[in-house]
Amino acid sequence: MAAIRYGIVGAGMMGREHMLNISHLPGGSAAVTCVADPHPLSRAAALDLASSLGRPLKVFSSHGELLESGLCDVVVVSSPNMTHFGILMDILRHPRAHHVLVEKPLCTTVHHCKEIMAAAKARPEVLVHVGLEYRFMPPVAKLLQVVNSGEIGKVKMVAIREHRFPFLVKVENWNRFNANTGGTLVEKCCHFFDLMRLFAAADPVRVMASGAIDVNHKDEVYDGKVPDIIDNAFVIVEFDNGARGMLDLCMFAEGSKNEQEISVVGDIGKGEAFVPEGIVRLGTRAGGRDGVQTSPAADVRIKYEGLHHGSSYLEHLAFLAAVRAAGSGGAAPAVDLRDGLLSVAIGVAGQLSIEQGRFVSIEEVLS
Ligand SMILES: NC(=O)c1ccc[n+]([C@@H]2O[C@H](COP(=O)([O-])OP(=O)(O)OC[C@H]3O[C@@H](n4cnc5c(N)ncnc54)[C@H](O)[C@@H]3O)[C@@H](O)[C@H]2O)c1
Repeated sequence: MAAIRYGIVGAGMMGREHMLNISHLPGGSAAVTCVADPHPLSRAAALDLASSLGRPLKVFSSHGELLESGLCDVVVVSSPNMTHFGILMDILRHPRAHHVLVEKPLCTTVHHCKEIMAAAKARPEVLVHVGLEYRFMPPVAKLLQVVNSGEIGKVKMVAIREHRFPFLVKVENWNRFNANTGGTLVEKCCHFFDLMRLFAAADPVRVMASGAIDVNHKDEVYDGKVPDIIDNAFVIVEFDNGARGMLDLCMFAEGSKNEQEISVVGDIGKGEAFVPEGIVRLGTRAGGRDGVQTSPAADVRIKYEGLHHGSSYLEHLAFLAAVRAAGSGGAAPAVDLRDGLLSVAIGVAGQLSIEQGRFVSIEEVLS
């Protein structure tokens, strides 16, 4: 089978991470042929990486040139969040069909997500996968299996704690301002709102949040402006089946054993997943504390662990399979545009709730 040809738009940290992941996909199935990035240092880094992998690479300074080149069948959009909308629109309006994997968040606003959905509807032959890759992390995937099997009963509470290091420095510091990222609850927490929807098997109804910028970035100044991105928050999400979600985010918590700790409690039992410890715990009310089982979670398919515990690799395996199936008449992406939209909508509702100190309904942000 001929290799699927990939183009990467945005060759920063994540774009190069995609290049590495694609290079580890099963022999000959996929190849990155081109990259577009306006930043000369990122283009040079992509060329260096391609040469270290022994692969030829064409570089462009804009996504328009990449789309015109005819060098790729698939585009990975890994440019800053605020550029996703314009780039996706150009891909979806291009006469040549390119399948897309767009990094999270789909867009920085609900309005833009909805415009992308409308444009994609007009191009049914184009597959759009949203990069909500935490679903693919082995402990998360294993806990999802447990929950879906009914072992813990009807899910009532989903608590996700992310305690980690501050936002990293990005090219031209785009990630320091809400206007570029969509706000911390959109930018990074869209991952966790996506997981809450999956564990609760329901859609969100309303959101209440409290958060602030309390510790990080306060002494940074860019073009005379101090960053406005929050570094900690509690977010409560109510779902349409009565389940509740709670996010506990702290980005000045380097002194943590795990970066993510997920707890899902049903009316029969409780399941937990720990990243990067890579374990899952399962217990029932009947079995009590003594009955709690701990098991490792690993996925033998992972050929490259990368920066996200193998989840980017598994995401690429799923995406490649969907692209191949799309060529032969039909396949849905593992993570679709509605998933992308709702993960952004919960984040937007959370940001608004912090700003206005009230519950915000999902209906309000979607309309
Ligand atoms: N899946 C994950 O867990 C995860 C992790 C990190 C970042 N991300 C996402 O990946 C994307 C990129 O983040 P990053 O960490 O690589 O940032 P980065 O700053 O390291 O890289 C972004 C690159 O995009 C380039 N760029 C800017 N405007 C562009 C344009 N119009 N067209 C093409 N390239 C352009 C920049 O020059 C830079 O090289 C963001 O959407 C981010 O949210 C996802």
